[in-house]
Amino acid sequence: MSMIVRRLSRAATAGLVAAAALTAAAHSAEAADTLGSAAAGQGRYFGTAVAASHLGETDYAATLDREFSSVTPENEMKWDATEPSRGSFTFTSADRIVDHAQSQGMDVRGHTLVWHSQLPSWVSPLGASDLRTAMNAHINGLMGHYKGEIHSWDVVNEAFQDGGSGARRSSPFQDKLGDGFIEEAFRTARAADPAAKLCYNDYNTDGVNAKSNAVYNMVKDFKSRGVPIDCVGFQSHFNSNSPVPSDYRQNLQRFADLGVDVQITELDIEGSGSAQAADYTKVVEACLAVSRCTGMTVWGVTDKYSWRSGGTPLLFDGDYNEKPAYDAVLSALGGAGDPGDPGDPGDGASCTATYTRTADWSSGYNGQVTITAGAEPISSWTATVTLPAQQSVSSLWNGTPTWSGNVMTVRPSWNGTLAAGASTSFGFTAAKNGSDAAPAVGSCTAS
Ligand code: XIL
Repeated sequence: MSMIVRRLSRAATAGLVAAAALTAAAHSAEAADTLGSAAAGQGRYFGTAVAASHLGETDYAATLDREFSSVTPENEMKWDATEPSRGSFTFTSADRIVDHAQSQGMDVRGHTLVWHSQLPSWVSPLGASDLRTAMNAHINGLMGHYKGEIHSWDVVNEAFQDGGSGARRSSPFQDKLGDGFIEEAFRTARAADPAAKLCYNDYNTDGVNAKSNAVYNMVKDFKSRGVPIDCVGFQSHFNSNSPVPSDYRQNLQRFADLGVDVQITELDIEGSGSAQAADYTKVVEACLAVSRCTGMTVWGVTDKYSWRSGGTPLLFDGDYNEKPAYDAVLSALGGAGDPGDPGDPGDGASCTATYTRTADWSSGYNGQVTITAGAEPISSWTATVTLPAQQSVSSLWNGTPTWSGNVMTVRPSWNGTLAAGASTSFGFTAAKNGSDAAPAVGSCTAS
């Protein structure tokens, strides 16, 4: 079925802009116990990529609506989804996301107008002049439809090659229109929706390297010549091969110093537990340290729908439980949890205690108890160790014991504070006095 090109913007026909602005204000006034509200307290948005097909899932929508203040359609605004054949625009899925976001007072990031990937097959065979016309028509079609409704648009995505050269990536646009296609796309975009922030977005540009230097030089050139660009997006897809760079903040700052905003646009970090949480903390702290870093978007709500689901890179697990990374982000944003809301910092604290014998001789042994914090950071712990009746403890280190018969209750000496998932241990020397049995380690409690 051929679709009708909607040249009138949705905002012009439905008058939604004012309503969206009002609900956005109401959203940020809520208690500071969600990612979105905590980020708002820092003058930032906290967004997520969203897939229209999951909006009908109750837990997905509930988590999205509770936590996030901005959404990016994960695929629904891409060229193949919106203009599958030339001149025939289809906005059904993207509209679902935008309508949902507006009903919740969330901002919308537009992603993406000109990209070599997820391009419908009719685009690449076009000759240069036709391709230029088609590119501009595509920008006008998308930006016109959502005029006034999109906070920031990724105008051009991933136009630079990976690796050391800092060269442009081969694409139909680059190959046929040359370097100037990026500038042309930005100029067309500015005219199409003057209210939208116009971003260049890329990956492996998160630290200072040849690729980010090339983008930096382009932005610098654009600013010096008055080419309209307002922001640079840093995708920030991290894993063990591509870790959070140590100069992440410095890199964001040097772009900001060119006079553009910076945004973290597709954040995900493969891993789990306290290591993943610590990496998320680094990213949030880097953004907060750069005044022109206006917001962060994670690339999905739940691990189970992540494009890298095997790497469990997001803040909520497949059952929508808050992961240690969630707590780390909320706390880096200065957020506080509701009392009794499991998963928020300061409550729901838990720990486990495990015992091993680390040395053994005929008359005695050394035991070690490892304390591991659960999904929350903890500030103290208590573990009980019950010894066989004959045994006695002659010394204990990295803990403070109190005794009741043969039950030893151990609290921290210096090592009470643990990040989510992190461990410490205490040790002791026991005399066997004829019994070689192992002590029983009871429950661990944390606060
Ligand atoms: C990914 C989506 O998450 C996937 O669902 C899709 O199959 C491929 O694209 N850089 C980008 C995003 O700019 O659009 C990509 O999103 C991830 C990498």
